[in-house]
Amino acid sequence: MKKYKKIKILTRTSSTIHEIMINLYKVINAETKLNIMKKKVVIVGSGLAGSFLVMLLQDDCKVTLLTKGNVSESNSMLAQGGIAAVMSKSDSLTSHVHDTLVAGSFHNDVKVVETVIEEGPEILQELMNLGLGFDQDAHGNLLYGMEGAHSQRRILHSGGDQTGRIITSFVQSKWKNVEMIASAYAVDIIKQNEKACGLIYLDKEGNWQEIFADDIILATGGIGGLFPYTSNDQTLTGDGVALAMRAGAQAKDLEFIQFHPTIFSVDGHCCGLVSEAVRGDGARLVNDLGAYFMEEVHPLGDLAARDIVSCKVYQQTLNGRKIFLDIADVQNFTKRFPTIDQNLKKYGFNVERDKLIPIQPGAHFLMGGVKTDLSGATSVSNLYAVGEVACSGVHGANRLASNSLLEILVFAKRVATDIKNKTLALQDSFIKENKEIESLPNLPTVQELQKRAWKAIGIVRETAKMKEFLAWLEQFTLVEQIPRNWSKKEIECYNLCQIACDITKMALARKKSLGAHYILRKEI
Ligand code: SIN
Repeated sequence: MKKYKKIKILTRTSSTIHEIMINLYKVINAETKLNIMKKKVVIVGSGLAGSFLVMLLQDDCKVTLLTKGNVSESNSMLAQGGIAAVMSKSDSLTSHVHDTLVAGSFHNDVKVVETVIEEGPEILQELMNLGLGFDQDAHGNLLYGMEGAHSQRRILHSGGDQTGRIITSFVQSKWKNVEMIASAYAVDIIKQNEKACGLIYLDKEGNWQEIFADDIILATGGIGGLFPYTSNDQTLTGDGVALAMRAGAQAKDLEFIQFHPTIFSVDGHCCGLVSEAVRGDGARLVNDLGAYFMEEVHPLGDLAARDIVSCKVYQQTLNGRKIFLDIADVQNFTKRFPTIDQNLKKYGFNVERDKLIPIQPGAHFLMGGVKTDLSGATSVSNLYAVGEVACSGVHGANRLASNSLLEILVFAKRVATDIKNKTLALQDSFIKENKEIESLPNLPTVQELQKRAWKAIGIVRETAKMKEFLAWLEQFTLVEQIPRNWSKKEIECYNLCQIACDITKMALARKKSLGAHYILRKEI
């Protein structure tokens, strides 16, 4: 280990207007003070979680939303399948809870599962009353889609396969009172007396900025960028989990990463998701030898839980097989799946003519994340996390398809309620103490990191490979605070290294396969 020069900087920073207002508080009557000032909330991320939180908080709080790219870039915008919810009389909460627990290998927090599944439909109904539309038949009845490991058709969808984009844009259309900062890259949490009180970010010109708030909500999404093959938006580089952990927040279940079995494959590259809902409407997995191989693997066949299907597809590809989704039996493909159809067309693929879509598996969703309670609060006071960045416990070891948008709606509402009900605390003036910064570690290229991550902590894991990966990673994970001479690209790479390190440690600690954490015991 190298010897590093220690630098210690102590600066006093004023949280400007916010601090002046707080000082004013101190001289006025305690009973009147809460009426004159709104809480200040900073939300990081503009997918469905961040966007819905703006809608819920804007009347009561002063809300600032930071987004890494722009409001149309997020995994929520890409969500095709839909939103799983018990809305039909023929369905039941018990059945949805049961399916969620089975898919999650019973590693889920049962109380959280029940809460999400019970509270979700009411929130959806409220949004529908405000004008959010889901696909219906000619008689105005909601149409329910089917996805893997569901025992009922219960997936609400909008615009066919455009559900995520339609819901997210709908809640964004309700914004009226928000300060939006686009191209703002959140770097580190600022803490005072062990409480989160602000955020350091890089603005679009590459300048370092600080913003102060009573509460900070992370809604930054997942970690798809850690892998060379992913369905995720390119902005997803694990930033929220990494910065929360640097701030001392607990993380949980990071070893559980969901790989989606059917991503459109072009020359070995992932070129857009082909939703599981396509299999729900009759598509089947087949290899280049013509074998419909899922039939022999699981009683649910092509609609087995995602971890099972991905593992089987991966094993087939390791054996040199090419895998396709046979869509011959899917009715009205172009109407039901317009986004997928458009994407396939971009690559010269015509679903009227070509019935075998080449696919490959890739990283899709992180079940673990920053540990949160039933109010969405993390272990650091005044810091919340919602959506994929959080580990609420609802998904267990493998997420049931289309449960993520439901989790977001329920937890965004719970966070908003918690924040609105909390008494506004008086904060002391902020004293910034820069941690002792050791020297700067050299970073690997993201491509090198992705290649190694895929081999060590991808779909199939081996203890020896994980240990080797961890030893390689440990040379890069040396700083406790991001040095201010790093560029956005360097910080992204550093965050990915940090996350990879924690995922690998948790994966090594879990000795037995469970859900999406699959350890190879014998050669495939
Ligand atoms: C899909 O449409 O296959 C993905 C849906 C989900 O991740 O829940």
